[in-house]
Amino acid sequence: MELDLLSGKRILLGVTGCIAAYKSCFIIRELVSRGAEVKVVMSSSAQHFITPLTLATLSRNPVITEIFSSDPNKQNTWHIETALWADAMLIAPCTINTIAKIAGGFADNALTTLVTAMRGKVIISPAADVDMYKYPLTKNNIQKLKKIGFHFIDADDGFLASGLSGTGRLPEISKIIDSVESILSGYNKDLVGRKLLITAGPTYEDIDPVRYIGNRSSGKMGFHLANAAMIRGAEVTLISGPTNLLAYQGINLIKVRSASEMKEKVLSEFVDCDTLIMAAAVADYKPENLSEKKIKKEDSLLSIQLTKTDDILSSIVDKKNKIVVGFALETDNELENAKRKLKDKNLDMIVLNSLGEKGSGFEVDTNIVHIIKPKSEKVTFPLQSKFQIANKIIDEIIKLN
Ligand code: CTP
Repeated sequence: MELDLLSGKRILLGVTGCIAAYKSCFIIRELVSRGAEVKVVMSSSAQHFITPLTLATLSRNPVITEIFSSDPNKQNTWHIETALWADAMLIAPCTINTIAKIAGGFADNALTTLVTAMRGKVIISPAADVDMYKYPLTKNNIQKLKKIGFHFIDADDGFLASGLSGTGRLPEISKIIDSVESILSGYNKDLVGRKLLITAGPTYEDIDPVRYIGNRSSGKMGFHLANAAMIRGAEVTLISGPTNLLAYQGINLIKVRSASEMKEKVLSEFVDCDTLIMAAAVADYKPENLSEKKIKKEDSLLSIQLTKTDDILSSIVDKKNKIVVGFALETDNELENAKRKLKDKNLDMIVLNSLGEKGSGFEVDTNIVHIIKPKSEKVTFPLQSKFQIANKIIDEIIKLN
């Protein structure tokens, strides 16, 4: 079964000259590990930062560096053949100089020549220092290219090689790969203007200053949902219990610890959203009393009285004009339980995760889900990556409107 949309895809990776060029190694590794075939073209400046040998080894293909062959009699149309071979071209990192050349229609090196010959999509992931990135002509060039159909993966905010900080960083590799996957699979910016509130991860209910009650949720499904929604143009607020996952730049990430903190944040953020997706594994019980001091080991039996936490979904009274989606994680009587939760919690849709199905569950990167809506037949999405599942869930949410 094809687990990845990139499997079998032919990607031409353009690498240009900036410090982030070293990250192209990781991009190639990720593309190759997902089954893509990769060929690399490097600008001459890129070769100051990283060698063609490294990228040829990782991509398992010779790297293109020159327009002209060293043999003056050799005639060929390599640029046309290579451009036709590629399903898409990704330029990552792309300097502002190369962006300017592309915007100007130049074909003055192997990389820009290939851009002009491409029939497939061209995806540009810029990287530059903060002032270079916000230089007005760079902005104009990006706008111009977006208008004529080039795809951009916007640079991230953060610490830059110069020691300055601001917008200009090449995004995390996972964001670049997810964006390529979304663009190639034809997801449009179909969530522009929508405000999604998503919860993720477990909650921790403290027993004393060192111990807590938690659960095995990794938060991956919720984070993939938030990332996919953001790529598709939504304004996203992600309320997450404790995880060490990274949210994409642009997502409003609110970190919480306990079920009661999550409830407080969900209720206040709900007012401003049009869709809530409760993917968090909220604890159902918490210790009745929080011990201020560490509980000492004494008797052979220790009892901790637990009290029910509030059900967040059921605490939302006014769901008018909003879409509310829940998750149900079940080990038995799956469908029956999920349908009951859909009704009891007054949901528009519930995503059923069955722990018994191989490839779904905690910590893994894949999932199998069943979507249940009040008046429709159950829809099943078989084993695929959590990012793909996230996109399928979003497709189903869009159908609710
Ligand atoms: N949920 C919630 N507040 C809680 C517990 C769960 O809003 N205190 C939400 C979850 O985020 C999920 C849905 O309710 O979207 C179902 O959660 P689940 O744990 O499957 O069901 P519970 O209602 O907690 O019932 P049980 O644990 O008995 O299966």
